[in-house]
Amino acid sequence: MGTRIKLLFVLICIHALLSSGQNQDIVILQALKDSWQNTPPSWIGSDPCGDKWDGITCTDSRVTSITLASINLSGELSGDIGQLSELQTLDLSYNKGLTGSLTPDIGNLKKLSNLILVGCSFNGPLPDSLGSLPQLTYLSLNSNGFTGPIPPSIGNLTKLYWFDIADNRLSGSIPVSDGPTPGLDMLVNTKHFHFGKNQLSGPIPSQLFSSKMTLKHVLFEDNQLTGTIPVTLGLVQTLEVLRLDRNLLTGNVPSTINNLTLINQLFLSNNKLDGPLPNLTGMAILNYLDMSNNSFTPSQIPPWFTSLQSLTTLMMQNTRLQGEVPADLFSIPQLETVILKNNRLNGTLDLGASYSNHLQLIDMSSNLISAFTQRSTYSANLILIGNLICMELEATASYCHNSTESNSSYSTPPNNCFASTCSQYQVSSPNCKCSYPYTGNLTFRAPSFSDLGNSTIYTSLQNSMLTSFESNQLPVDSISLSNPTKNADDYLEIILNVFPSGDERFNRSGITRIAFVLSNQTYKPPHPFGPYFFLANNYDFFSDAPKGKHKSISIGLIIGVSAGGCVLVLLLVVAGIYAFHQKGRAERATIKNTPFASWDPDKGSGDRPQLKGARSFTFEELKACTNNFATAANIGSGGYGMVYRGNLPNGQLVAIKRAQQGSTQGGLEFKTEIELLSRVHHKNLVSLVGFCFDAGEQMLVYEYVVNGTLKDSLSGRTGIKLDWMRRLKITLGAARGLHYLHELADPPIIHRDVKSTNILLDERLNAKVADFGLSKPLGEAGQTHVTTQVKGTMGYMDPEYYMTQQLTEKSDVYSFGIVMLELITARSPIEKGKYIVRQVKEAMDKRKDLYNLREVLDPILALSTEQLQGLERFLDVALRCVEETGNRRPKMSEVVKEIENIMELAGINPDVESTSTSESYEGKTKGNEHPYLNDFSYSGGLLPSELEAK
Ligand SMILES: *[C@@H]1O[C@H](CO)[C@@H](O)[C@H](O)[C@H]1NC(C)=O
Ligand SMILES: *[C@@H]1O[C@H](CO)[C@@H](O)[C@H](O)[C@H]1NC(C)=O
Ligand SMILES: *[C@@H]1O[C@H](CO)[C@@H](O)[C@H](O)[C@H]1NC(C)=O
Ligand SMILES: *[C@@H]1O[C@H](CO)[C@@H](O)[C@H](O)[C@H]1NC(C)=O
Ligand SMILES: *[C@@H]1O[C@H](CO)[C@@H](O)[C@H](O)[C@H]1NC(C)=O
Repeated sequence: MGTRIKLLFVLICIHALLSSGQNQDIVILQALKDSWQNTPPSWIGSDPCGDKWDGITCTDSRVTSITLASINLSGELSGDIGQLSELQTLDLSYNKGLTGSLTPDIGNLKKLSNLILVGCSFNGPLPDSLGSLPQLTYLSLNSNGFTGPIPPSIGNLTKLYWFDIADNRLSGSIPVSDGPTPGLDMLVNTKHFHFGKNQLSGPIPSQLFSSKMTLKHVLFEDNQLTGTIPVTLGLVQTLEVLRLDRNLLTGNVPSTINNLTLINQLFLSNNKLDGPLPNLTGMAILNYLDMSNNSFTPSQIPPWFTSLQSLTTLMMQNTRLQGEVPADLFSIPQLETVILKNNRLNGTLDLGASYSNHLQLIDMSSNLISAFTQRSTYSANLILIGNLICMELEATASYCHNSTESNSSYSTPPNNCFASTCSQYQVSSPNCKCSYPYTGNLTFRAPSFSDLGNSTIYTSLQNSMLTSFESNQLPVDSISLSNPTKNADDYLEIILNVFPSGDERFNRSGITRIAFVLSNQTYKPPHPFGPYFFLANNYDFFSDAPKGKHKSISIGLIIGVSAGGCVLVLLLVVAGIYAFHQKGRAERATIKNTPFASWDPDKGSGDRPQLKGARSFTFEELKACTNNFATAANIGSGGYGMVYRGNLPNGQLVAIKRAQQGSTQGGLEFKTEIELLSRVHHKNLVSLVGFCFDAGEQMLVYEYVVNGTLKDSLSGRTGIKLDWMRRLKITLGAARGLHYLHELADPPIIHRDVKSTNILLDERLNAKVADFGLSKPLGEAGQTHVTTQVKGTMGYMDPEYYMTQQLTEKSDVYSFGIVMLELITARSPIEKGKYIVRQVKEAMDKRKDLYNLREVLDPILALSTEQLQGLERFLDVALRCVEETGNRRPKMSEVVKEIENIMELAGINPDVESTSTSESYEGKTKGNEHPYLNDFSYSGGLLPSELEAK
């Protein structure tokens, strides 16, 4: 209490004695601090300027900059911010916990030049008052949940240079000025319009563009814009990147477009454009052209294509091209990728005498090409599937087959050293030092290249970024880049790891400064990369651990302030009241702050209503029960992390899944996952015993299922003999578990990674479905699918989901069908390049006994004397599960019913517990591997059907 009173002393003195702006700023920062959780531990004391609060910069004792990116800040941005009247820069990016709407009081910040709120969870409409920030230069609100229209008032921002509102849920049309009402056509100094991935609608107003505009990037992709491309676009001669793809644009492409001679990247794909192909002669530095999926007037490949001598990438699929492909097309010197599939190209494909030696991929599938000539050996990828040339009987050429082109998997190599073996969560840097990197995704919205396998490009990115970090004097040792991939929007994503110099961890100040260089676009990538944004992952390894609120402050300061002339009596009275108030506030803050604090077992069991039975373990408890995570207790590892067997003090055996760095989520997400898991109770689902969210660790504690995975038993590793009856019973159990998830759990859950290594067998060989690590709950009632990044396991993945990225429960049904085929064949879904579905279908003959499948059956079944009663019906169900399209697959409830019927016909009561236990089988119980893993999880690549064709 004593300390607290001293602190109040100071605060009250400041309140009472001084009332000019300087001292107002501390009060406002205090108010902001009270509305946020996870403010930096350095935010103590009474002088944010002198005492150096992290992220606060002052000039003449007034706060001029707040940069708090990537420190796990949560809460709302209170209207108090509007009173920091000298504020020039506000960067709160990459704090997923920041929610609520953007306060209209932001409009009071007359000196604000940089407003940067990238990758938070702000929502609601953009306030009109954004238009009253006369100094605003950088406005980056991308990757939030903002809704409603673009405020016309933004047209008032004459200094605006960077305007990024992409990846929100903004709607309405693009506002242009009308009499006294401002509009975006007035933004003649703005270089960047980044509006992609919203729900903007209506036509692109022709008034938007004029010769006064100085725009470089116009990114309108992935909206719902209608009407024609305005002729006036041709007036914006400064344009370098134009993305209008993935809209509903119609009509002719205006001929004025070829006036835009500075364009590097042009995307008009996926619209409803018609009329003649636009004549792009004159676009001498065009690198990347995508006009796919439009309904242009049928035409030959125009001769001017060859005049685009800077092209790296030509995408014209499904654009009604016909006639022969001119050979000189391939001589464009930098050409990497040509995709002309789904047209009516015919005659001979001739690559010419001197085609580009950068060519990586020519995809001409589904045309009418009847011959192929190469004058010198062409070794890169050529696809002619679906052409006349491949329809002949002996079409054995490699271009007539789906190839197994491997994804380019670049990763920055060690810098003349050997990568270190690091402890958990640490990563070996390019300089081979173990440390805790700051990580995230760099996304390039319009790169000018398409060959992702060219490592020199990444080296130049890496070097230029490191140079930028160094020139900004950031505490960075090195950086690495990995996993370049193209996503569904044709954005290039690259994983970035930034390693700390000196120390093995960053402190908050280091992270916020690095994050600012990326969120504020201070760093400019080299040419081929084009416009980018960065989204950071949570950093959980700060070297400056958060401290409790209201820590003591220096005696010297107290004396100084006291001597300043506060009236002692008054002070004590006021302080008493304040202290009382503060105490309540501090307690409330603790509860809000750390959602897990109240679950601490030490604090009794009162406060965890959402967690039906899941226990909170401390790190020490789990450490003790795994013998300090001893190697001997390690029963497996996977993408998620390590799995350990533990023995709780009460004797219960548990499996502990310990997340490794990179897969840890934010606290809230982790909490959501636990709440989800703890709500799910079914005897055919592995149950959650508890969790640990302590000491920077995230662990899930599951019941230990003794007989390991179904896969282990099918492969003979456990020694448990699976006869036909047992297989039926296992199928039924697993089907019931999934049926529960899909149709009975609230909210319904899609498992997303159904496979034989995620089905565990208990001592009575009851199947238990495990590993909800990838599971997705469906949101509102009536929602039938979620759109999500494709995850899952090769061989089990629903091809429809892979194509559309729309996840439905039928994707699980597909995977379950594969498991059923595995159950009768004991083969992996993809074995020696062969896909199980194809194998079964090819061997199958319904007129014969056992559908003629004895050859492909698991020999244990095929050779046993047991009657395989119902096997045909079992196969029928399995094959319905693996139908190409989801709506032809049965629901899990139908699968359950059918398996029950099969069992009844075979004379087994599906609901009688078998009394035999696995103890009576010949085997030992544990293999080396263990469940709860996402081994071999899908990370971009090929469909099973593509793999199979090899
Ligand atoms: C735009 O600026 C003008 C003057 O600069 C001002 O009168 C007007 O109110 C502003 N409009 C909006 C919507 O902020
Ligand atoms: C661009 O087009 C406009 C009309 O659309 C024309 O006035 C202007 O001269 C053209 N500029 C160039 C450089 O061709
Ligand atoms: C395309 O435009 C160029 C110059 O603007 C012209 O010389 C050429 O004839 C045009 N080509 C076609 C096919 O219209
Ligand atoms: C290719 O198609 C064009 C136009 O459709 C046609 O005129 C031409 O005869 C065809 N050539 C061959 C070799 O089939
Ligand atoms: C090649 O793969 C695609 C899917 O990527 C598939 O639709 C097509 O049928 C396959 N073609 C052949 C010949 O297997």
